[in-house]
Amino acid sequence: MVQTDKTRNYYNNYGSKEWDRLDKTAYDKLNFLLHMDFVSKYLKKGIEVFDVGCGAGRFSVEFAESGCNVSLLDISEEQLLLAKSKMKDYKVEKRLKYSVIADLADMSMIEDNKFDVTVCYGAPLNYLFDNYTDGIKELFRVTKSGGNVVVSVNSRLGIFRTLLGKDNFNINNFLGRPDYWMINEVLKTGNLPEHPDVPQPPRHFFVSKELKALFKKAGFKNIKLASSPCVISGLRSKAEEIYKDKNSWNTLLGLELRSYKNEYLADSGEFLLLSASK
Ligand SMILES: C[S@@+](CC[C@H](N)C(=O)[O-])C[C@H]1O[C@@H](n2cnc3c(N)ncnc32)[C@H](O)[C@@H]1O
Repeated sequence: MVQTDKTRNYYNNYGSKEWDRLDKTAYDKLNFLLHMDFVSKYLKKGIEVFDVGCGAGRFSVEFAESGCNVSLLDISEEQLLLAKSKMKDYKVEKRLKYSVIADLADMSMIEDNKFDVTVCYGAPLNYLFDNYTDGIKELFRVTKSGGNVVVSVNSRLGIFRTLLGKDNFNINNFLGRPDYWMINEVLKTGNLPEHPDVPQPPRHFFVSKELKALFKKAGFKNIKLASSPCVISGLRSKAEEIYKDKNSWNTLLGLELRSYKNEYLADSGEFLLLSASK
């Protein structure tokens, strides 16, 4: 089965769990909040936003509620249906311009220079595996000159931190069997191919230096990096504990908001964020 079919099947079966992904735990809520903070300065009323790999539309709805016109693209027809129905539920369907089922590495049905802001959040670029260069070229092509792109990918180092901090995770089964879990292979190449104990399709995990160089090569300027989350990265159960106390939670939010755009920490989060202009 080719990579795009594996990803499509995975997300078609994943269904509505995708809508809840950034709301399940305190840690997920924090990821959502930082992703929104990172994109918020670009969200002006009436602009054209392209939500590439929109999933169930968690961000698409927010963009529409900010007064932006929103177009959607996803490789999974199931996720795209969910995103459209969420836009109806939240009464923002009049802001929905286009919706397309496609692979982001080939968006040839979309004309050049079309969108003010192109967003690709929640790791769609990781699923391109060894084809991410084409995906980044396409993000560049569909964005207007003077427009902006905002992406989040799963970070190569951050993903280890995320795994080690997971509740009920058998840490010694993982660290004690580095060959089985391909730990050195992932660290070295970023590639995690199909694996019998990993339900997700093959992915490529990025480091900040690599991602920045790829976007620069595609023609993007003013490239900025960030980490989501940052200070609390990997400490899932601590985030849960902090969430129960309003003052503590507000202090953590302040810490995160002041630190997550520190480029020296960009590799530490579950997600590596990048913004750039064309
Ligand atoms: C984890 S979800 C993120 C959804 C949403 N952007 C968010 O952040 O909440 C990843 C989405 O990327 C989509 N995707 C993965 N590979 C893709 C590709 N090659 N082209 C388009 N969409 C893709 C999946 O179908 C899925 O809906």
